[in-house]
Amino acid sequence: MPSFQTTPGTRDILPPDAVRWRSFVEEFDAIVSLAGFQHIVVPMFEDLGVFQRLGDATDVVTKEMYDFVDKGGRHVALRPEQTAGVCRSFAQHRPLPPWKVWYSGPNFRYERAQHGRYRQFDQVGVEALGSDDPLLDVEVIALAVDFFQKLGLRNVVLNINSLGDSGDRARYVEALSQYFQARIGELSPESVATLERNPLRVLDSKRDSEQAVVAQAPFISGFLSDEAASHFAQVKQGLDALGIAYVVNERLVRGLDYYCRTTFEFQSTALESAQTAVGGGGRYDGLVEDLGGPATPGIGFAIGLDRTLLACDAEQVFPHPSTKADVFVIDTTGGLQALQLCQQFRTAGFASERAYGGRAMKAQMKAADKSGATYAVIIGTDELSQGVATVKSMVDGYQEEIPLDSVVEHVAAQLRKVSS
Ligand code: HAM
Repeated sequence: MPSFQTTPGTRDILPPDAVRWRSFVEEFDAIVSLAGFQHIVVPMFEDLGVFQRLGDATDVVTKEMYDFVDKGGRHVALRPEQTAGVCRSFAQHRPLPPWKVWYSGPNFRYERAQHGRYRQFDQVGVEALGSDDPLLDVEVIALAVDFFQKLGLRNVVLNINSLGDSGDRARYVEALSQYFQARIGELSPESVATLERNPLRVLDSKRDSEQAVVAQAPFISGFLSDEAASHFAQVKQGLDALGIAYVVNERLVRGLDYYCRTTFEFQSTALESAQTAVGGGGRYDGLVEDLGGPATPGIGFAIGLDRTLLACDAEQVFPHPSTKADVFVIDTTGGLQALQLCQQFRTAGFASERAYGGRAMKAQMKAADKSGATYAVIIGTDELSQGVATVKSMVDGYQEEIPLDSVVEHVAAQLRKVSS
């Protein structure tokens, strides 16, 4: 018989981790909903052309796309991120701006799988379409900051930069290209190849031998138009007004090409691996138009769920939510009593569990312990003949006999007392 394992870069999220994932998304929902963002679900695969807008020269498009021709002959791809899908959706449905949406779910990139970098990974994110107000940038960044705080993370650094308008960016890329061409002898063969495709990405080089040449490269700030520079100044002023700490990092170029003006990234200093970016985003004022819609500015971010949870583990915050039962019903009379009582407890809103397969009292007691239940309700043949159940507190061992027909009410009242 063949035996199967998850393919590289994919993982099973087993219980109880999956519960933690869900509450991560719920916390995010709670924060962004307060700021008027509404949930959107975009398809997991789209026409390849939608994602080609992420940039002809980016790794995401050239190397990492999960694309295929479907049975109808359409060239489609699994989404590597959700911003392009949201903008395609805006262009298709033309909602009234400002349009503020949030999303969660898996994305797919054929990356070199390693700790914190997967081929299927989850994100939560927001997109706000229809305004280029710099204070909207601040509001969007503040949502991510609030979320990291809500999780309890203390070691997340916000890096910001401005990539200017498309003309500024083009002039900067040209200047960078000329600069690196002039010092090409100092570049590794990999960076020379990157230079051909996308000079901006040479700035990302982590190779020691290239740090000097990268450090002396021109900075984007020298190429910003007055409008872009003023926009960036207002973003920084807004962040200051909210007391949000940030580092201006002029080497922050991001891995997708649709960005202009404000870009930002959140780095966890608690993570030791190379994968320290827990989230990132920025403005993409030309993307909706690129996808066939009206000229519409936009800004958003995505937070990597997998990686942010690794940061939570490293900082020992955002523990797994409790999955304990409220009550465990032990029944040695055949199981029908447990079946009925569990049902009644669940109808009353309490988590109830039981053992299956007519197991002995001792084994059922052990299972009750393991379930973490606050109370055990025990029904043996003696109890059944007397029409009672033994209610045992699993916290202090205190036990009492309660008439079978009022045991649910009795235990429910006790549980309400405990939780209030
Ligand atoms: P991104 O920087 O490509 O931006 O991804 C955002 C976050 O997703 C990263 O900071 C990281 O935490 C996580 N992530 C990315 N790739 C992987 C991977 N292979 N494995 C695990 N986690 C990963 C975007 O996706 C943009 N759509 C963000 C955005 C929204 N910009 C504007 N609006």
